[in-house]
Amino acid sequence: ETATTYANISSCLLSSHVQNFTIFFSPLSIQYSNLLNFSIQNLRFAGPSVHKPSVFILPKTQHELQSSILCCRFSSLAIRVRSGGHSYEGLSYTAGRYTPFAVIDLMNLNRVSIDSSSSTAWVESGATLGEIYYAVARSNRSLAFSAGSCSTVGSGGHISGGGFGFLSRKYGLAADNVLDAVLIDPAGRALDRKSMGEDVFWAIRGGGGGSWGAVYAWKLRLVPVPDRVTLCSIKRPGSFRQVAELTHKWQYVGPNLPDDFYLSTHVQASTPGNLTSSFAGLFLGPNGTAICILRQRFPELAVSESECNEMSWIESAAQVADINSVSDLLNRKKRGKTYFKAKSDYVRAPISVEGLIPAAYFLSTQPKAYAIFDPYGGEMGRMASGDLPFPHRRGNLYGIQYMIEWETGEGGMEYVAWIRRLYEYMGRFVSQNPRAVYVNYVDLDLGTMQRTTGSDGSRDAVGVARAWGERYFLGNYDRLVRAKTEIDPDDVFRNEQSIPPFPKGG
Ligand code: FDA
Repeated sequence: ETATTYANISSCLLSSHVQNFTIFFSPLSIQYSNLLNFSIQNLRFAGPSVHKPSVFILPKTQHELQSSILCCRFSSLAIRVRSGGHSYEGLSYTAGRYTPFAVIDLMNLNRVSIDSSSSTAWVESGATLGEIYYAVARSNRSLAFSAGSCSTVGSGGHISGGGFGFLSRKYGLAADNVLDAVLIDPAGRALDRKSMGEDVFWAIRGGGGGSWGAVYAWKLRLVPVPDRVTLCSIKRPGSFRQVAELTHKWQYVGPNLPDDFYLSTHVQASTPGNLTSSFAGLFLGPNGTAICILRQRFPELAVSESECNEMSWIESAAQVADINSVSDLLNRKKRGKTYFKAKSDYVRAPISVEGLIPAAYFLSTQPKAYAIFDPYGGEMGRMASGDLPFPHRRGNLYGIQYMIEWETGEGGMEYVAWIRRLYEYMGRFVSQNPRAVYVNYVDLDLGTMQRTTGSDGSRDAVGVARAWGERYFLGNYDRLVRAKTEIDPDDVFRNEQSIPPFPKGG
């Protein structure tokens, strides 16, 4: 059966003039594993025990992407589309053990074309955020794009799930700035905003990657930034009590600063029993004003002038991404990969100091873990929950991401259990009924379609997927199911946590 599949897919691809693909032979060839591992971010899903794709396809044009999808269907291979490979749970390159599948990797579809006069860009969805930022700034220093911090994240997955970053309080999510898109549907057709219809165009802007088809390209709205912005990096070590107090105060400041000011905090153990709060700030204006605002609104920080520096927006994007130079934004290969597990929450009312102290204490005992507090408010708070599938808008003060990262394959279960305990403790302080989660921090703990079959056809899939669908999308889940039924009634584009269609004839 495997040999037939390989013969079918090879001849289909070759007759469609798709030449850039590799077939899986056991043991893995070096070339194959290099390609597969290239953009894998979470080493938990890179090991030999992980079920591998039968075929790895690298389309170079829109047409090749269309043919790749049709050939996979013709050969009865499940499809995983990969852009930047940053899925927290490896959803772009894994499938259940008994599911023969292909990875369609878009790394060669990474062209970015800027129209400075209309402040728009067309980007192929294999372009990374770094590649987009670089091209935008190069064409016009007064323009930027609002999206996440890490330069190697792919725009395909990122924009599909929302895309939050340092400009989001001012300009919203990456998905809020999508003006048009080209979606390849299960029949291999290329649809734009008009031909896919408003429900599907709504769904692809935040309804999560992997459910709707393969986004070939996005048309993006670029946003104005001043020539000089101010980036602040403020580290405050302290006891767990002091860190809890500073975080407590931050809750009143971060979400309420002027829209031009983004200030997040990252809390991590430094020495045993002690933590460091690292505040990262971006102000769309001069240093002097940034310092003034911080001193007035957050005197407890006692910010000094040397902690904030003026630079161009693109220099700030490189620093935020923790890379050495602006040209490194073009480097798709991230250094220092790790094993990790993450979870996320939304906070709608400030948490008391008494509530934060045990969390800070717990964090002080595990230096591999950290929590990032991302301020909402501003533009994020002006949108309503149903405007796009990403529902965490008005009424949310901030988001939290809990992360634990380790360097070797050892002890993984313990670390995962640890971060789950922190998450369990935080449950009483965060959004409830349901407890909301950010789909770009995808978390299989919320439930999965049966891994073995790759689908849950035997049961009520729409009911099963509600377990995660309503936590990622709240009241938008049912509209997403309707959009899915419209664009992909046979559930061709699916993964463990995709949105299922209504059953046929039901
Ligand atoms: P990947 O290729 O793994 O795809 C993710 C999902 O989208 C998969 O289900 C995949 O099948 C699907 N998909 C990919 N391309 C598609 C396409 N063209 N069409 C349809 N479906 C497609 N988030 C955030 O909001 N702000 C941030 O600052 C960061 N920072 C960050 C740093 C690091 C180091 C990591 C690992 C992750 C983040 N993220 C983030 C989360 C990130 O937004 C999320 O993991 C994205 O889904 C990654 O998109 P990729 O294309 O890289 O992933």
